[in-house]
Amino acid sequence: MADRLLTFSIFRYNPITPEIPPRMQEYQLEETMGMSLFIALNRLREELDPSLMFDFVCRAAICGSCAMLINGRPGLACKTLTQDMPDRITVMPLPVFKLVGDLSVDTGVWFRHLNVRTEAWIHTDKVFNPEAIEERMDNPTAQAIYDAERCIECGCCIGACATANMRADFMGAAFLNRIARFMIDPRDERPMAQYFDVVGTDEGVFGCIGLMACDDLCPMEIPLQGQLAFVRRKMAQMALKCARCK
Ligand code: SF4
Ligand code: FES
Repeated sequence: MADRLLTFSIFRYNPITPEIPPRMQEYQLEETMGMSLFIALNRLREELDPSLMFDFVCRAAICGSCAMLINGRPGLACKTLTQDMPDRITVMPLPVFKLVGDLSVDTGVWFRHLNVRTEAWIHTDKVFNPEAIEERMDNPTAQAIYDAERCIECGCCIGACATANMRADFMGAAFLNRIARFMIDPRDERPMAQYFDVVGTDEGVFGCIGLMACDDLCPMEIPLQGQLAFVRRKMAQMALKCARCK
């Protein structure tokens, strides 16, 4: 690999010092073999600027903490190799979420709201019996639940979503994927009408304008387009049923 001198243009702003306006700051770093953007940011912080803020935990595309806008596209810093990038890399925080500082955003509050609003737990009237034999689930259903469960709550799909960028009330793909997960699960006894109250609205699945950047940019490659279509179909059936009842 030819030695490259990479230029990083990084968004800087600390809400604690609002008198210093937001700005882009440039740093240069020699590329090393197998360098990820996460490694580059750590080296920048260790060697050039200890005040640089960004988040990470796992370094392995598991925790979802290091999502940011990389050359304009949401992605995980720990999963992005500099060898796949041009010499100049622009890095900005994910939009939509509350800015903590520089590249660090608070996705936790947003996802907590998602989990509370979708009541992201199994709703059943069955009383737990530790003596009972485990109920089997067919493989395709288990696989479909597992697919939806792979969400690492990184927020890339939300940062990429035109509607979520324009409307703070729009739920976004991660939200709808979570709802799909419980709709698929035969152990959840919620009636469809209860889901309809949560996502059968313009804030929910009917607010999606179908650009599908969420599906293109999800680092876990969750089939978000399919999940959205599934929820929309269920909600449309529910709306038709209600219309007939009137
Ligand atoms: Fe991230 Fe994909 Fe989950 Fe969206 S659905 S939060 S892009 S893992
Ligand atoms: Fe955990 Fe990147 S550090 S996903």
